[in-house]
Amino acid sequence: MAVREIAPGISAVGALDFDRRLFDSLIPLPHGTSYNSYLVKGRKKTALIDTVDPTKERDLVTNLVRSRVEGIDYIVINHVEQDHSGSLPMMAELFPRAEIVVNEKSEDLAVRLLETDPSRCLVVKDGDRLDLGGKTLQFFIMPWVHWPETMVTYAVEDRVLFSCDLFGMHYAESSLFVNDEKAGYLSAKRYYAEIMMPFRKNIADHMEKLKDIPVSIIAPSHGPIYSRPEMILDAYRDWISDDVKDEVVVPYVSMHGSTEKMVSRLCESLTERGIRAIPFNLPETDIGELAMALVDAATVVVGTPTVLFGPHPQAVYATYLFNMLKPKTRFLSVIGSYGWGGNTIEALKGMLTRVKPELLEPVYIRGAPGVEDLKKVEDLAIAIEKKHREIGIHQ
Ligand code: FEO
Repeated sequence: MAVREIAPGISAVGALDFDRRLFDSLIPLPHGTSYNSYLVKGRKKTALIDTVDPTKERDLVTNLVRSRVEGIDYIVINHVEQDHSGSLPMMAELFPRAEIVVNEKSEDLAVRLLETDPSRCLVVKDGDRLDLGGKTLQFFIMPWVHWPETMVTYAVEDRVLFSCDLFGMHYAESSLFVNDEKAGYLSAKRYYAEIMMPFRKNIADHMEKLKDIPVSIIAPSHGPIYSRPEMILDAYRDWISDDVKDEVVVPYVSMHGSTEKMVSRLCESLTERGIRAIPFNLPETDIGELAMALVDAATVVVGTPTVLFGPHPQAVYATYLFNMLKPKTRFLSVIGSYGWGGNTIEALKGMLTRVKPELLEPVYIRGAPGVEDLKKVEDLAIAIEKKHREIGIHQ
């Protein structure tokens, strides 16, 4: 990525990664990603805001050379995860006079993960300011955006918020700014769902704090920059709210067609009632798409056969993710079929340690579903409709 100016004296110097297809050895990246790093030049001092993934160190160095940087006085580490801080060791070596700006929590992680020299750390507290000469950086500690040490940096005079992971998206885009807000919305939602959703209550607190800060530009550390911050702020307000939509997510797996038949009947029956059904055939599902659907849905119904003694491993994986992602789902049920025994329902229930949706009566039948069994599936759809009506999301 070339060096681009986003405001006078503030440039994007990070790297695009069009080819990366997996993050954390877990998250699919259909559009690649970027590791944004920003250079802020004041009259007296220069600061680098975040670095890049170590695989893209060369891009960062090239961009700094092209920026004709004579020295860097501060390297601000908003977040210690290695996709942003992994090039800190090299930057620290290249710029031996630079102080490394961290907070109390991130200092410890930087020392442990990156072998940062504590004597070079400048530890800032919430609201602290750093004068660069005509440009002021202010730091706001916003823990648990998804790690405990996260903070954001605000360029006061230019009203630019460097939000690191917060408001980001995995999207390699040569355009500096978000120019397709619809595509940007979907990518940001996917990113929120995969990374931020378990921390929505913390993020709600941070959003409250941000209300008092005038922001003209949000420059995250993944994806293009927002020149219209309200677009992403409005989206986040919706995602982190307690509001759910008249939708049912149905992650399912079927071995010989019995569970699939039940899922089909459930989805038909919900659709007939005007409720949006969103099935995911787990062996073929992009888990990012599943996570996105979980952001809004009032209800989840897991479809699984019994394999050996319990739920199919694909259903175990989906339920594990559900439990870890902590969506605001209000109701949950299970449908499926077994051959001779097993404790599928109890095993799935036992996995729900972090979420407490109301459990609706499962429909778990032996063998292929007959007419009576499919009637029970319809009854589940009726029960879901009733629940959705009770909480005011279904007419
Ligand atoms: Fe993009 Fe939490 O790192």
